[in-house]
Amino acid sequence: MPARILNGNRIRDQILLEVENEVETLAARGIRPGLAAVRVGDDPASEIYVRNKIKACEKVGIHSEHITPPAAVTTGELLELVDDLNHRDEIDGILVQLPLPDQVDAAKVLLAVSPQKDVDGFHPFNVGALVTKRPSPIPCTPAGLIQILKRSGISIAGKRAVIVGRSDIVGKPAAFLLLHENATVTICHSKTENLPAVAREADILVAAIGRPAFVTGDFIKPGATVLDVGINSLTDAEQVESICSGLPKKLERFRAKGSVLVGDVHPKDVAETAGAYTPVPGGVGPLTIAMLMVNTLQAARQRRAT
Ligand code: GUN
Repeated sequence: MPARILNGNRIRDQILLEVENEVETLAARGIRPGLAAVRVGDDPASEIYVRNKIKACEKVGIHSEHITPPAAVTTGELLELVDDLNHRDEIDGILVQLPLPDQVDAAKVLLAVSPQKDVDGFHPFNVGALVTKRPSPIPCTPAGLIQILKRSGISIAGKRAVIVGRSDIVGKPAAFLLLHENATVTICHSKTENLPAVAREADILVAAIGRPAFVTGDFIKPGATVLDVGINSLTDAEQVESICSGLPKKLERFRAKGSVLVGDVHPKDVAETAGAYTPVPGGVGPLTIAMLMVNTLQAARQRRAT
């Protein structure tokens, strides 16, 4: 049976519609949620991500501000900027797009964001709340993974979940969310022995390592659900030929654009082996933005006590 494709765009649209309706309800009471997105410098990937976040705000009726300090900004200047946003009443959510330039102490900046306005869920206060299962903003990409599973009718309780990648942004919070849904969770990383064998135990396999097509067929139990968090832009013709051979649409796109997106999971292997999987693009990515809207709405509600 061909694998089921889990369409992230469709689920994103459902969630955005729900948020839009709730924003309208708040508007009737004179409340408009507001998000400030801080993007330092001109990293092209960050530029696209933040632009899409702003577009989503416009779609659902959330006020947004796009703040773009120069690449040479200092930690002190960013701390001042964040402090100002912490105190502004029309701003409910603050997002500092990562990565930050090397001269900036990113941990210090993230710590300065008021936990009440931390719509990324990166502040240690909120990380602690997540671990101890208290209500808190949940990091957007892991929150999106859970939405994909739930809204696709894929059960989590009792299942073996294996996460490849232990980042603070995805791997670790995803592990706690899946644990809270009563999965049996394993986190794998660069030092894990027999990685394919461990991954092959998964009913739910999450790939979040940032290496194109790293998860190949031998990592995937036949019939497993595979969630691919990776977004890797390939520009090397030889690499594209090797990863995308037999995938005419990807090859065509590469010929037309000079680059093509692939996830952390091998696109052909996953289609052949998994029971269900998220494609790249159009899988997990769209959910990250949808969950940011959910978190901003929620922050506005909490802070304005509605
Ligand atoms: N960089 C990559 N992913 C994210 C994210 O979810 N939030 C922020 N702020 N930066 C990121």
